[in-house]
Amino acid sequence: MRLGILTGGGDCPGLNAAIRAVTRRSIDTYGSSVVGIHNGWAGLIHGDTEPLSLYSVSGILHRGGTILGTSRTNPIKHPDGIERIKENIKKFELDAVVAIGGEDTLGAAAKLNEAGIPMVGLPKTIDNDIVGTDATFGFDTAVMIATDAIDRLHTTAESHHRVMVIEVMGRHTGWIAIKAGIAGGADCILIPEVPMEIGEVCHLVNQRKQRGKTFSLIVVAEGFSPKNATKLVTQDDKVDEFGHVRLGGIGHLIGVEIERLIDIETRVTILGHIQRGGSPTAYDRVLATQYGVAAADLLHNGGFGRMVALNGTKIESIPLTDIIGKIRKVDNHLYEIARVFFG
Ligand code: F6P
Repeated sequence: MRLGILTGGGDCPGLNAAIRAVTRRSIDTYGSSVVGIHNGWAGLIHGDTEPLSLYSVSGILHRGGTILGTSRTNPIKHPDGIERIKENIKKFELDAVVAIGGEDTLGAAAKLNEAGIPMVGLPKTIDNDIVGTDATFGFDTAVMIATDAIDRLHTTAESHHRVMVIEVMGRHTGWIAIKAGIAGGADCILIPEVPMEIGEVCHLVNQRKQRGKTFSLIVVAEGFSPKNATKLVTQDDKVDEFGHVRLGGIGHLIGVEIERLIDIETRVTILGHIQRGGSPTAYDRVLATQYGVAAADLLHNGGFGRMVALNGTKIESIPLTDIIGKIRKVDNHLYEIARVFFG
């Protein structure tokens, strides 16, 4: 077989481990050839590719980012996107494509598969919000980075008797916030799934003060909105090709409100893309490798239109169409555990 492989959407630690695993398995076990497609769907639309050999994927397992590059190009939105992709599939003699991505990239893969282009999906995102799988790679690394940041902010908050607001990524869901918040001992965690009034946050800070705790750690996901807010806090009015706004800044709004309402000195840290950069954790390297090998196996056994997925400890697969338009939210049980430690 001759297969193409691409990485789409926001990058995350573990992408190179997945590229390496798909390539090694396909060449070593199946004697196939592998073509790397540059910059997500853009590379397939514009015919921008490179051959991948065992040599080109050596030494990349531990490296962050993606050797193939990525973009938020939406092939379905391009007027002649599907046609151009079909032409390039022919031109490069590809039998199938492995798409590594989040809900947007995999949603596009599902539609292209329906349009007759054989696809296999592989779920990644630091947000951990893809349905049908227990985990996406990149998430564990992001949680580790956020936890480390909370630990560091903890000591300075304590010294200065301040409230620290830590804003983490999480467009639709609060997975990073809830896990890093629990791990870092947050006194309040604000996630998109559970709207809350800023007054309630202030109440928790005051409650701690009464117990003699003169500092507090508030973790907020970028996609959180206070109760009764009419819109999300965004950086500007721009939207990407999938219709997503650029989030960021809710932490500042919360910080200003805390100082206004209860007059306790507050500082805000927005972690941003630091959560997406650098080396993957061992967990993410292993998960990405498991997914990569499973995706190559699936593809060589004709499992087109499917996505590899973690179910408990097993790697299985589900139809790509199952994930379209859905988001895997933080489960209430985990939120209730976090809430035990609020205030
Ligand atoms: O999709 C993952 C994510 O990290 C979101 O949490 C965040 O809102 C977004 O990507 C930021 O993407 P960009 O790289 O386009 O700024």
